[in-house]
Amino acid sequence: MSEFIKIANASDLTVGQAMVVDVAGRSIAVFNVDGQLYALDNTCMHRGGPLGEGFVDQNNLTVQCPWHGWVYSLTSGASPLNSMAKVEKFEVKIEGEEIKLALD
Ligand code: FES
Repeated sequence: MSEFIKIANASDLTVGQAMVVDVAGRSIAVFNVDGQLYALDNTCMHRGGPLGEGFVDQNNLTVQCPWHGWVYSLTSGASPLNSMAKVEKFEVKIEGEEIKLALD
């Protein structure tokens, strides 16, 4: 079973925002879409763009890399357009006042 660790306070990530956290040497982007949290590896597979600074499409639950526009699903980390492109996705949740994330 995955072990969840605290990465932030719930108040640090309001609806519509994203944040980037460093956990165990990894840079992870966490998104709050309508109160639902999603977490992906922050590093775009193309050339390392910061997905945490990308454009979130709330309807399709995707994030678009700010550098050259690659798109990733917030729910799976996979690109809907390129089957070769996928970033790692992480379990993330709010527990009380804390945001918790599991690395695997
Ligand atoms: S670095 Fe993300 S699209 Fe190029």
